[in-house]
Amino acid sequence: MSKLVDGVPDFLCKPAAIDPQLFPAIQEEAYKLFLEMYKNVPDTKRLFYYFQKPEFQTSMSLHCPILLGEIRRLNLYSLFVRLLFVQDYYKPENPMPAHRDYPYNFSYDNLGLNIPVRNYDHSYTVFYEGQDSVENNWDAEYEHALGTPNIRVAVLGQQDSIREIARFKIDRPVWINSYALHAARHDPQSDSENPRLILSLRFASMKHLFDNGYFDEHLVAN
Ligand SMILES: [Fe+2]
Repeated sequence: MSKLVDGVPDFLCKPAAIDPQLFPAIQEEAYKLFLEMYKNVPDTKRLFYYFQKPEFQTSMSLHCPILLGEIRRLNLYSLFVRLLFVQDYYKPENPMPAHRDYPYNFSYDNLGLNIPVRNYDHSYTVFYEGQDSVENNWDAEYEHALGTPNIRVAVLGQQDSIREIARFKIDRPVWINSYALHAARHDPQSDSENPRLILSLRFASMKHLFDNGYFDEHLVAN
């Protein structure tokens, strides 16, 4: 595909170099972290909340030692600054709009290390080409809920201009380029009662890890 924009990685989705043997335990850890972090949110069914360092650190140390061990093994711990849970309910009449995450902080902060946690068997992450909407964004509705100031979390694509270019079933830890227009989509047999739950880890600028080849050499699974 053509480059998305200068200074942004041009891949959409790559498998992450998390030890596959640890993946089931990491999923259980992530679910415990979700239950803990969502004790204090005002709307437990909301699509997502961002949590900034340090507000997740105590809970994560308590509930996610194996995942943190992998983050440390990959030499990512010092860059790990933000996380979000995405709860996407299957609503055919109101699907998730195509959007870019956090688009005004360019460079490499838009990479997500996404870990599927629950109900992902019949769901996909779909990528699109298309124009950004100049009007709609998620600032007001999806502002950060806790502790930190509001951040601009996403900009929507113009829904009549978008065209699907790729889709990935996320059934293992992956790197997602959330700068690219994307959304979650579901098969009709999806569980409409329980949302697809994804934990997405975000990092401070990773540009040097691309420049020196570390990302492809050590952070992507073979
Ligand atoms: Fe997103």
